[in-house]
Amino acid sequence: MVIGVGIGENFIASDQLALLPVTNRFMYLEEGDIAKLTRNSIQVYADGVEVQRQIHEIDATQHNADKGEFKHYMLKEIYEQPDAVARTIEMALDNGETTKLRNDFLQRHETLLSGIRHVQVIACGTSYHAGMVAKYWFESLIRIPCSVEVASEFRYRNPVVVDNTLVICISQSGETADTLSALRDIQKQRPAGLVSLALCNVPTSSLVRETDIFLPTLAGPEIGVASTKAFTTQLVALILLILKVGVTQKCMTDEHLNTLLSELHQLPGQLYASLNLDAPIKTMSESFEDKKSCLFLGRGLQFPIALEGALKLKEISYIHAEGYAAGELKHGPLALVDKDMPIVVLAPKDSMFDKLKANMQEVHARHGELFVFASEASQMVAEDRLHLVYVPDVCETLAPIVYSVPVQLLSYHVAVMRGTDVDQPRNLAKSVTVE
Ligand code: G6P
Repeated sequence: MVIGVGIGENFIASDQLALLPVTNRFMYLEEGDIAKLTRNSIQVYADGVEVQRQIHEIDATQHNADKGEFKHYMLKEIYEQPDAVARTIEMALDNGETTKLRNDFLQRHETLLSGIRHVQVIACGTSYHAGMVAKYWFESLIRIPCSVEVASEFRYRNPVVVDNTLVICISQSGETADTLSALRDIQKQRPAGLVSLALCNVPTSSLVRETDIFLPTLAGPEIGVASTKAFTTQLVALILLILKVGVTQKCMTDEHLNTLLSELHQLPGQLYASLNLDAPIKTMSESFEDKKSCLFLGRGLQFPIALEGALKLKEISYIHAEGYAAGELKHGPLALVDKDMPIVVLAPKDSMFDKLKANMQEVHARHGELFVFASEASQMVAEDRLHLVYVPDVCETLAPIVYSVPVQLLSYHVAVMRGTDVDQPRNLAKSVTVE
């Protein structure tokens, strides 16, 4: 809960964004606080004793919550991604620097990060999908085992957290009830060498206050319920964290580091280029308008993006959608394939491409209609029942960030066409502060 401090008026809300039109002065309550507000006074009590809570002044100009020229917040936020990603990269990288991370990036926490041997990611919704990508990265890039789980399951199954675990809580809002509870449960267990990290877009959130390390995403306020720029900046912050752990623990070669750093510098430009796909994707979206169900397929690093694509589509267009690891097709979803079910495929020319191509052929042979996002290097060509949009070239490691954009745009255009409430879909909330 946050209290908005006014002049001759005070407010209470669950998110300061809601109060920015009326005040830029806020008081954050701590767990268990009770506040008594009148028009002219604010009293806060902890355990029955009156306490003082500081008033924080926010620079409202940095929290531009205006739709500007865009029809919806979601579209605006999709278009803000190149800048938001560039800002997030700059936390760890100086302009043009490709040989090392900035000295001040997570410098205070080097001792904590040097001791971790396992990673446990906890998150919900879109943030969980960012955690899934992180699992692939942690294990393939720096060989540190990583588990990822939705917070609502993790908190109730009495899980084992081994010693020297880095617990990463990913949350745009930092107020998601399940994520906070899962963190508190782990902290009660107190495994030796436990380090907790909040990867969060709101510096003043509960999650940030309750963790050892705060790694911000610099997405700026995200208003649309369907998360877009918060997701891509989470991915960027996660890869930066992984590079930091890799350097700190000396489990990454200089050559590998240099390659990834120079690829990170190119990322904002690649995101700009991917926004140019808006028009062909809008055309593609017309085929989805009257559909009841849809499959998203990916392999490797694109599997979590397939899940995220399906989540986006169902959230805002109300079309039933499922994300699948394409290798699992033959274990069930292939039975669903017919001419009425569109199948979206994320197909960069990566180490899994040949396997994925075989999966696409299985679908095509069963009269499925494919909507493929691929790189030109894949040499795929459009044909009957195979619609194709080329995505800008990007290295395999960072491809999930760039391939997020076309699935966001596709969901957006389908939802607009179906006339749903894009920014505030029915039954959903931006911050889920209750169980
Ligand atoms: C809600 C939102 C999603 C978000 C999820 C987790 O369901 O609608 O967009 O991904 O909560 O939220 P968090 O703030 O923890 O990332």
